[in-house]
Amino acid sequence: MVLFGATGDLVRRKLLPGLFHLANAGLMPENYRVVGSSPAAGALSDEEFRTHAREAVTEFGRSKPEGKAWQAFEESLSFGAADPEDPQPLLAAVREAQRGLGGRARLLAHLAVPPVAFPSVVQLLGDTGLAEDARVIVEKPFGTDLPSAQALNATIHSVFDESRIFRIDHFLGKESVDNILALRFGNGLFEPIWNRDHITHVQIDVPEEISIEGRARFFEGTGTFRDMIVTHLFQLMGFVAMEPPTSLEAHALRAEKEKVFQSLRPVDPAHVVRGQYTGYREEPGVDPQSDTETFVALRVELDNWRWAGVPFFLRSGKSLGQGRHVVTLGFREPALRMFPMDVSHGSCLRSNEMVIDFDDPGSITARFLTKEPGPAMRLENAEMVFQYAGSYNEVHALEGYERLILDAMLGDQSLFTRSDGIERLWEAATPLLEKPPPVEPYAPGSWGPDRIHQLIEPYRWSLPADQ
Ligand code: BG6
Repeated sequence: MVLFGATGDLVRRKLLPGLFHLANAGLMPENYRVVGSSPAAGALSDEEFRTHAREAVTEFGRSKPEGKAWQAFEESLSFGAADPEDPQPLLAAVREAQRGLGGRARLLAHLAVPPVAFPSVVQLLGDTGLAEDARVIVEKPFGTDLPSAQALNATIHSVFDESRIFRIDHFLGKESVDNILALRFGNGLFEPIWNRDHITHVQIDVPEEISIEGRARFFEGTGTFRDMIVTHLFQLMGFVAMEPPTSLEAHALRAEKEKVFQSLRPVDPAHVVRGQYTGYREEPGVDPQSDTETFVALRVELDNWRWAGVPFFLRSGKSLGQGRHVVTLGFREPALRMFPMDVSHGSCLRSNEMVIDFDDPGSITARFLTKEPGPAMRLENAEMVFQYAGSYNEVHALEGYERLILDAMLGDQSLFTRSDGIERLWEAATPLLEKPPPVEPYAPGSWGPDRIHQLIEPYRWSLPADQ
């Protein structure tokens, strides 16, 4: 495996700790080598890269870098710098690693580099012959609009065919995303009601408590819509809304997800609230006049037989009241007239909802009404909650990146995005990208600009739970 961008944040926080966790869990191949790479200006020696890895695993890993497992992992690490004009150190490191493996092992390249660097790294892999038979993991954001995504796909396709490209979206590696499939398609209790006849609206809500945390340069050029919606939240929507695939094989699963994207109506800017937290413009590196959104809430629609007329509300933002990952399905109310219920009491009821919390480990909650004990017929909110924590042995759980890197090593593309799917999402996003409404301020610690309530009417956001 070659990690491009080996001294960067992603490799330090996620990839090195994740690879060590896989090794520790016995999920790495019997023989493997990990070669870190970066431009020569930031080159490390093998020893420095091992120290870098030890520090990364100490700070961010779930298992401590010690014992036999660590020793073996550490021995697998080496470093080779690469610049487009001089890829020699990398080639030498890969050759050395191949020799250690006793033959020509299949190469997996992970492009943990900023999007501007994708084309030159892909070109380098092609020109040096490293791409031959290799697989490539490409990080998000995959383009910033339709033309840039098309150009990026063309560049990658000039070296790799689609079957060897793994566009990674770490949300799809979360356990609970697989669980959406299990919940929907494994249960006669839920499958028949998962459609417009029973569901009034869907919320996909990923508020974050963290701010931009010093990522001004990235964020100013990206904003929440590109950073979170076009990638993670639309992908999740694909899983919530897809038709039953004929199997869980990559071709079947991805085909159903892409059909959801095909049916996505163009995003209407009138149904979008863009927000910016107060104080964002004073962050170091941020333009004092910046119009970049740190929050977005939108209503989108799927024009297909299952979901026609059912709005999907998506929300994400930085510096909000809580960090959560929640999908809420609102069900149709039956006629409640037979129950004596004063209006003020009735308006506090939050029932007829299914809430899938996909924090790791997540939970599934059904909200419904029960009779309050006593002589009068009075309805009250009730909940049935299933918690993953405590229900299963968590040792087998893998974090998003771990699961997806493992899948890429095994050549399983089920949870990776296809080029046409990504392009279709950018196409649907075009009206908003061309005419974004102005950003509205919101207080850090709140849940976004006030207009979000108007956006979701006649429904209510299921978060915060105590509203
Ligand atoms: C990343 C975004 O892809 O996902 C970040 O670039 C965001 O801005 C992060 O904070 C959220 O991921 P998670 O798994 O922590 O919810």
